[in-house]
Amino acid sequence: MTDLRAEDFLPPREPEVGASAADAMAPKRVYLKTFGCQMNVYDSERMMEALIRDGYAMTEQPEHADLVILNTCHIREKAAEKVYSDLGRLRDIKQQRSLNGRSTLIAVAGCVAQAEGHEITRRQTAVDLVVGPQSYHRLGQLIGAVQATGKPIVETEFDGEDKFAQMPAPRRVASPSAFLTIQEGCDKFCTFCVVPYTRGAEFSRSVADIEREARALVAGGARELTLLGQNVNAYHGDGGNSRPASLADLARCLADIDGLARIRYMTSHPHDMSDDLIQAHGDIPQLMPFLHLPVQSGSDRILAAMNRKHTSADYVALIAKIRAARPDIALSSDFIVGFPGETDADAEATLDLVRAVGFAQTFSFKFSPRPGTPASQLVGQVPEDTKTARLLALQAVLEEQQAAFNMASVGTVVPVLFERHGREPGFLVGRTPHQQMVHAAAEPGDIGKIRTVAIAQARQMSLRGVIQPA
Ligand code: SAH
Ligand code: SF4
Ligand code: F3S
Repeated sequence: MTDLRAEDFLPPREPEVGASAADAMAPKRVYLKTFGCQMNVYDSERMMEALIRDGYAMTEQPEHADLVILNTCHIREKAAEKVYSDLGRLRDIKQQRSLNGRSTLIAVAGCVAQAEGHEITRRQTAVDLVVGPQSYHRLGQLIGAVQATGKPIVETEFDGEDKFAQMPAPRRVASPSAFLTIQEGCDKFCTFCVVPYTRGAEFSRSVADIEREARALVAGGARELTLLGQNVNAYHGDGGNSRPASLADLARCLADIDGLARIRYMTSHPHDMSDDLIQAHGDIPQLMPFLHLPVQSGSDRILAAMNRKHTSADYVALIAKIRAARPDIALSSDFIVGFPGETDADAEATLDLVRAVGFAQTFSFKFSPRPGTPASQLVGQVPEDTKTARLLALQAVLEEQQAAFNMASVGTVVPVLFERHGREPGFLVGRTPHQQMVHAAAEPGDIGKIRTVAIAQARQMSLRGVIQPA
């Protein structure tokens, strides 16, 4: 879960609680909270750009907000339920503000909005607007319509318009490492997953459109771009000459942008890891040696039930091919434990695959049955305590691998892109090409710069080092 930082988008003076004549002149304030994946972070940044254009300023306190937006995630039950507990608190704030003569418009965006639609306004009547991810280009208009009528609106149509073409171009970047959505939606229909229902069919933006936005982000201070898509390596956007471009073609084109030092992409599906993309990892220096390639399980029986379109052996062979093209590539994956029908032997097969591959960074989850997905209807749902035990066993091995990967960096000298201030005074936080987080004493002016760092210490999740003289 990520909150956009207010200082990234002009924080004005916070008003005292209680309306006054001066407040009528003050800009309207928006509080935006983002749950879920990087695509939601990207969407939140785009919505914020549009709202700033419409005269809003950002606040970090919902008590001061005229407009509250929750950009939500539906991937697991916990993620979706968090939204309703937040909405309960926001209802109380709305009531309190109303006693002080202030109105508050509460909007729910993102994947819960798309999946649950009218159910949200039924469950929480304080909600004024429900807006699905395909309608963000109409956000201002929808807010205006709620204000004009005082009636709630639920907008979850997939109308096929190109929302990207209609959203404002980014004017400033919150970090030297910026996200750029190049592809949306998914046609894979893994049996556990809500994304094909919440984000719709796969759609790729054109190379020209992406290049324009990438240049604007670099002009605004980005040194690294992470190209985003639910199924990003299935990218097949219009490359001009009425020829579809692959992700490798796109990366080659973006690598020509002056000032763009690093390119990453996520999330990829093993089935779409084409030879030209693997080759690109060997050829394009800007393409970072890190790949998030979720495998989900190491059991072929479970992979088939998940509709993943690859076996465990396919995955291992694919990794060997990728390592042949880029020997130092660091690998990352997602795992689901406790998929319906998963036995101890299946769980063991996942551990075997993990040991065979070796991962630098991972995310692992207990299976969560999601409404409308085929897996939620399967017999053989796994008891909660078995899921917990399997998750702990898997995470123990994964954590060992991550610690070993980080330990192996101690004593090396690596280029680090510094992104932000650390918690310790005088320290900045950056990333290595392998995506490891590095803390080092540095000047504030080093944010946005790539400095050479000698790695002195490793922890489970991060490294510590010393900047070397230029
Ligand atoms: N497009 C990506 C991932 C999308 S969702 C892919 O193809 O892998 C991010 C991760 O959430 C998934 O990789 C999966 O591990 C996890 N996930 C998705 N649905 C889930 C569910 N119903 N229960 C538990 N984890 C789930
Ligand atoms: Fe979900 Fe990813 Fe499977 Fe698509 S490929 S259905 S986004 S897990
Ligand atoms: Fe969640 Fe939607 Fe992303 S369900 S993971 S916010 S695509």
